[in-house]
Amino acid sequence: MILVTCDTHCYYGTINQQLAYAENVLGHDISCIIHLGDFGLYKSHLHDFFIKKGQRFLRPLYCIDGNHEDFSAIEKLTQKYQAFFTYLPRGTVHRIEGYRFLALGGAAYMDSMLTEQGAIITDQQINACLAFARAEVDIILTHDCPTGIGVPSTPGLDHFGATGFPRSHELAEHFQPKLWLFGHHHKWFSFSDGHTAYYGLEGAWKGFGLLDADFQLTIVKNRLEWEKTPFIEKLLAKLKIIRPDGPRELSD
Ligand SMILES: [Fe+2]
Repeated sequence: MILVTCDTHCYYGTINQQLAYAENVLGHDISCIIHLGDFGLYKSHLHDFFIKKGQRFLRPLYCIDGNHEDFSAIEKLTQKYQAFFTYLPRGTVHRIEGYRFLALGGAAYMDSMLTEQGAIITDQQINACLAFARAEVDIILTHDCPTGIGVPSTPGLDHFGATGFPRSHELAEHFQPKLWLFGHHHKWFSFSDGHTAYYGLEGAWKGFGLLDADFQLTIVKNRLEWEKTPFIEKLLAKLKIIRPDGPRELSD
């Protein structure tokens, strides 16, 4: 069984906490973890967790990127830490536990003033996805949601525009996958259009999904406690001096 999570925002330890819950409390056998973006690919936080504190994920972890990553260093960082987790670049297909996953990080629904250019999904990346044949892909993994499935806008963030990223409908039509999984919106969401079941996941501190060998995704809600983010840390995050704010305060 695969544990699916997202939006860790540098709080990498939550992944092992949710894994422990899935295995020790619920009694599931987890083979690996898939992370749907906003992992928190930032040099200082990766160094702190993996090198300074010597932490490890307790199962192999595969991640796509989101919109809260250091896009100027993403290649370098994912190579440097490849012993600890595996990055799935945009527009690539990966066989994991018998499934062929199409990976497409990035986002469209976000504050353009605060988001790096590298977060935006390009036409070239959509074209790279479409270069794969329908039969080559079982499940689509994205950070942002596709358009037209009814993911609601977050109150107060209406200025971000409608939810979903451009040309996502082309991927839906081309692949008609059995499953499409996404994060980013910090909401539990599900929708089916007849051939594709879409699932949106909450942030890692609220729970996770469990993907079995028969395309069934089960949502497990398990809220973890967080320390309050100090005011000064919030301020520095807003000024982009340190990592993005803690998960509680983030809405995308
Ligand atoms: Fe996001």
